[in-house]
Order: sequence, then structure tokens, then C-alpha cells
Amino acid sequence: MSDKIKFLMEGKECTGKPGQSILQAADDNGVYIPRLCYHPDLKPGGSCRVCTVNVNGRNMAACTTPVADGMVILNETEELRDLRRALVEMLFIEGNHYCPFCEKSGNCELQALAYRLKIMAPRFPYMFPERKLDATHPAIFIDGNRCIQCGRCVRAAEEVDHKPILGFIGRGVAMRIKAGSSKGLAGVEIGPEDACVKVCPVGSIIVRETAYRTPIGKRTYDHQPIGSDIEARAPES
Ligand code: FES
Repeated sequence: MSDKIKFLMEGKECTGKPGQSILQAADDNGVYIPRLCYHPDLKPGGSCRVCTVNVNGRNMAACTTPVADGMVILNETEELRDLRRALVEMLFIEGNHYCPFCEKSGNCELQALAYRLKIMAPRFPYMFPERKLDATHPAIFIDGNRCIQCGRCVRAAEEVDHKPILGFIGRGVAMRIKAGSSKGLAGVEIGPEDACVKVCPVGSIIVRETAYRTPIGKRTYDHQPIGSDIEARAPES
């Protein structure tokens, strides 16, 4: 059996490896599929649906669908762009994302994706929900206003840090990340070096002492659009 999977991505012949998802195979071929809940060090969560691609005529999540021989995949249709924009817009309106004074501005994947998708203003009305801040810990805080419920921190705590200290409470737009102690973050064993802190794609989990150390203008997405590191992997044609 061949250990190479051949598929078409935007009409271009690509190869993947058995066991890879469409998203991982696309990354290896230098094709950026937008994503938010996916992180390369974690099992895919499949919750945000921003990575939706069209596979043989059907829309599927690229991070949870295994790549297979003969797949014809579209990543850049107007329908997909509009779907992704709508998903990202909904994340903005259902939280309180005050980018101009957020520590993560310039390093934030949600903000960077909005720029990449050319979102100027959400088409939906802002909900301005009341969200809680957990500032009980001396080194770390969780700001629920900026949480997008991607679940990366929950998965990282379990899979990488091997201490399931974070979890979801509530449902739908009321769903929140919460530390597993009645004392909040102060009651759990968490530190700045933990993966669950580092994988947050937005400004929801922040390390207090390092916050604002990197000036605006010198942050990751101040220099390059999100996904350009993946696109740089494209083989020369
Ligand atoms: S990145 Fe695939 S569902 Fe979120």
C-alpha cells in the first residue's frame, strides 16, 4: 500500500500521509485553511468550524476529517469565505473584544483572522454580554470577555499538562471556561509555563507579569498576516 495520499486542493495536486487530517495535509502543502480551535500540539476539537472546506461537494471541518485519496477540496470559494466571515463575526458580537486595549492585540488569532478575512464591521448586532473575570491567581487571570470557547486550554490542560484544572460551564452563548475549584484560579495548580496558558488564541488567559512587554507594532501579526508561515511552506512550482 502506498504511504502517499493524493488529493486535489484548489485544482492543485497535493500529497498527504495516512492519518493526517485535511488541515494537516494542507499545511504540509503550503495551503492555509483558516482555523481557531485547532492547535498542532492538541487533538482537534472540531468546534469552531472556521476550517470548513468543500470536499467532493460537501462542506466538512478540515481539522477533523481525515485526508483520503482522490479527494477534491476547495478552500477559497466565495461561499466558504462568507461562512468563515459569519463565524468570526459571531464570535466578535457574542463577546466583548476591545482590541485597542487588549494585551493580545497583534498576537491575537481572532483579530488576525478578522483582518485576513477583511471583516470591517460585524453584520450582526453586538450582544455586550456580562462576562466574569477570574483574577484570583497572583500570576494568571482569565478574562471571560475575550474567551471564544475554542477549548484549547481545556484540552491542553488534560493532554499536555496532565492536570484537568479547566472546564466548560453553561451552554450555548453562555458557555464559559472555569477553573475547577470554588476558589477559582487561585485554587488550582497553574503557572505561566503551562500549555493551557500558552495555547489561548485570544486575550482570555493572560500572564500578568509579561503582559504588555512587547510593544504594539512588534507583535506577530503586526508583521505578517496569519497563515503566511504556512503558505511559506508551499513547494516551489
Ligand atoms: S479549526 Fe476545525 S473546527 Fe475549529
